[in-house]
Amino acid sequence: VFLSAFRAEPDLCTSVASDILRFKEVDPAARGGQGLLGVYLFYKGVHALACARVAGHYWRRRGEAGKLIARLLQSEGSDIAARHAQPRTAGITIDHATGVVIGETSVVGDNVYLMHDVTLGATGTGNAHDRHPKIGAGAFLGAKSTVLGNIHVGEGATIAASALVNKPVPPGYTAVGVPARLL
Ligand SMILES: CC(C)(COP(=O)(O)OP(=O)(O)OC[C@H]1O[C@@H](n2cnc3c(N)ncnc32)[C@H](O)[C@@H]1OP(=O)(O)O)[C@@H](O)C(=O)NCCC(=O)NCCS
Repeated sequence: VFLSAFRAEPDLCTSVASDILRFKEVDPAARGGQGLLGVYLFYKGVHALACARVAGHYWRRRGEAGKLIARLLQSEGSDIAARHAQPRTAGITIDHATGVVIGETSVVGDNVYLMHDVTLGATGTGNAHDRHPKIGAGAFLGAKSTVLGNIHVGEGATIAASALVNKPVPPGYTAVGVPARLL
């Protein structure tokens, strides 16, 4: 299933490779003795993203049967449902990778860093299809942070651990607390 997706859409493969390289660059725990092979084999954040990327391919390009495969990959591999994720987005890091939920219409930019228990969710109110957050390139989302609704977190912004973000965060700003305030 993976090989077929990579052959049909080589950008996917490049993106998975970038995710692995980026992990090695930014995660202090990955910089130790283990090589890229270690990150590839043992980092579930890398596996979850690869599943999401391949699921995105099947969802977008393989008709009705593809949608079933996409759902299967999502339920087996992760709670990352960003099926419309751009195949060229690269260098995303999901550290510890437990409890991360990325809603269907979320967009996550290049080199975004997510800790465990991050939720990019809908508010649960309203009927809009496009209901999830858009995260700018290079943003950092701390452990247990929750971003709700179709709002933008700007490039290079920082979301504190345990923050609840329900309003846009301008590029480069830090948001802390529940509900979040800008530092
Ligand atoms: C947001 C963060 C990056 C801020 O770091 P910083 O720029 O050094 O900021 P400071 O520690 O100087 O704190 C600035 C203010 O924000 C508050 N603050 C910092 N982090 C906060 C948090 N997670 N929740 C609520 N308030 C927080 C501080 O109490 C301080 O408030 P004050 O000005 O009223 O005294 C950092 O605290 C954080 O939450 N990082 C996430 C790390 C993480 O997820 N780790 C998991 C590892 S497994």
